[in-house]
Amino acid sequence: MYLFQMERGMRTMVMGALLLVFAMGCRKEKDPSPGGNVGFSGTPVELDLPSWVMDSIGIPAWPPDNPLTVEGVALGRKLFHEKALSDNYTQSCASCHVQEHAFTDPDPFSEGTNGAFGDRNAMAVINLAWDLRFFWDGRRNTLEGQAHDPVTNPIEMRNTWPEVEARLQAHPEYPSLFEAAFGTSTIDSNLVVKAIAQFERTLLSFNSRYDRFYYGGDSTALTEQEKHGMDLFFRDAHCVDCHREHTFSDPGMRNNGLDLSPQDSGFYLVTGVNAHIGRFKVPTLRNIGVTGPYMHDSRFATLEEVVDFYADDVELNSPNLDAHMFPWVAGHIDLDATEREALVAFMHALTDDDFLNDPRFSAP
Ligand code: HEC
Ligand code: HEC
Repeated sequence: MYLFQMERGMRTMVMGALLLVFAMGCRKEKDPSPGGNVGFSGTPVELDLPSWVMDSIGIPAWPPDNPLTVEGVALGRKLFHEKALSDNYTQSCASCHVQEHAFTDPDPFSEGTNGAFGDRNAMAVINLAWDLRFFWDGRRNTLEGQAHDPVTNPIEMRNTWPEVEARLQAHPEYPSLFEAAFGTSTIDSNLVVKAIAQFERTLLSFNSRYDRFYYGGDSTALTEQEKHGMDLFFRDAHCVDCHREHTFSDPGMRNNGLDLSPQDSGFYLVTGVNAHIGRFKVPTLRNIGVTGPYMHDSRFATLEEVVDFYADDVELNSPNLDAHMFPWVAGHIDLDATEREALVAFMHALTDDDFLNDPRFSAP
């Protein structure tokens, strides 16, 4: 059995942020599963999370068999940008998850390596360390599991894992990078996805103007219009009921009333339960100003269109409309033009320029 310990002992206030040092020790024991960091401990990662994040959502829990290490994150970053993962060497994860667009694809649907298109919008990769379900329909429960899928997806990277393993094994640098990250130079798919997941867990965005205003006490960080939009978001417009504070998402799978008869059945495709037809992951709204187009099927080009939808066009008879849509059913949502503009302005204040330009996340 593999064991690890995490010490949260050392906490120091550094420039308003709480610097956390995870000390992770790994005991040398035999691990029954391949790629379990057998008898190996890398350099623990130091994450600096603002103190309000610590107080509100706390430290994300990594899977016990994949603690974050400096070496693992560095390898994951390289693999996230590695085109050898795709059949014809043209596409990496970053081809569809573009940093300046908060790791989404600005195209409505992403083009695979043979020119075919998928039918859902590429999702943002932001603060996913806290999430419990991945993909619009929630079909994966871990980032490791998620990272397996694009590589073999017939309309994405169109490769096979044995081929990817062979390419990386024959590469001049990867074997030693896997050795540094996992204590073995024998590359297998489990280690590839572990490294990618480690990197993804460092994609943290908590420094928007909203954060500086609300948590940082900078009263000048938001304009009057944005503050108005914030009030609406958190109160009368009920957006926060699903796009919860902190991550602006929610672990539930929910139907926000897009369609009377959903073309994409969403969560139902995973569970086969009728009550799940039309339910989707609640996407984060952090950096939403740069991640358009919007919704799982990219039906809205702009945030103005999104707000008009919530103001005018929610399908109250959509099957399995979420209970949090009650204010809409009860006729309480009434947004005039000024309020709509304020809501849009507030959502733009969720953009975190440091995150979008952070050199630690770009192609190495
Ligand atoms: C061809 C474009 C494309 C490529 C290449 C691609 N993705 Fe994606 N990604 C998407 C799309 C589209 C979705 C949403 C698909 C769905 O929900 O069915 C998605 C979803 C995700 C999610 C889920 C986010 C969430 O909030 O649940 C993660 C994480 C992710 N991709 C990471 C990766 C990683 C890691 C790689 C490389 C191994 C990768 N992607 C390669 C297009 C792509
Ligand atoms: C019942 C829960 C719920 C409420 C309330 C809600 N949303 Fe959403 N929101 C969702 C879900 C679920 C999605 C994804 C829907 C889909 O694509 O099928 C979504 C998608 C979005 C998107 C697009 C995100 C993306 O990445 O494409 C935006 C923007 C948005 N909501 C803003 C708002 C605003 C503004 C309000 C308040 C007026 C609001 N939401 C209220 C659940 C909710």
